Amino acid sequence: MTEDAGASRKPFLYVVVCAAGIAAGVEELIVAAQRRGWEVGVIATPVATGGFFDLAAVQARTGRIVRSAWRSPADPRPFPAPDAVAVAPATFNTVNKWAAGIADTLAVSTLCEAAGLGVPIAVLPCVSGALAAHPAYRDSLVRLRGMGVRFGDAYSGEPGPDGGRPEFPWTTALDLLGEP
Ligand SMILES: Cc1cc2nc3c(=O)[nH]c(=O)nc-3n(C[C@H](O)[C@H](O)[C@H](O)COP(=O)(O)O)c2cc1C
Repeated sequence: MTEDAGASRKPFLYVVVCAAGIAAGVEELIVAAQRRGWEVGVIATPVATGGFFDLAAVQARTGRIVRSAWRSPADPRPFPAPDAVAVAPATFNTVNKWAAGIADTLAVSTLCEAAGLGVPIAVLPCVSGALAAHPAYRDSLVRLRGMGVRFGDAYSGEPGPDGGRPEFPWTTALDLLGEP
């Protein structure tokens, strides 16, 4: 399994995974990204690593560790610098912390830094209607959009009129980023 920052010939995509129930399907995004020519490294929030998705399967799929904590100062950088970042699913918590600059997880810290470096970032929120109505969340979206962050449509994860849950639009994150 690759753990060093060795030369990567393909453009490198960070997939940031937050602790939403829909995260269980994140391999769909990873596979689609790989098919489009991205090399993928996953950074998960600490909560997301606690059973929200299959860590071993994702590590096998990407050939890399899933990062959720900072490296030790003496260690090499585990991933190359990102050419783009996809945040999917993005939680209420992470979106608000990112907009406020509260970099208390590797995931949020990475997002704050990537935005500052001008790295293209696409976000697919998974936030219930009740939480999305909070004024802090609305302000966070305005702030992040103003920083150039690209957002997919709102997705609440709540059942539609037919009782079924709409599919999460994983590949929209890649469409928002364009060609690798
Ligand atoms: C089963 C389960 C599903 C959850 N789904 C969501 C969700 O879809 N969206 C969301 O914003 N929070 C959801 N949460 C709450 C988050 O996990 C919680 O706010 C957490 O602190 C988010 O941490 P993170 O943003 O660092 O990943 C869920 C929690 C649980 C236990």
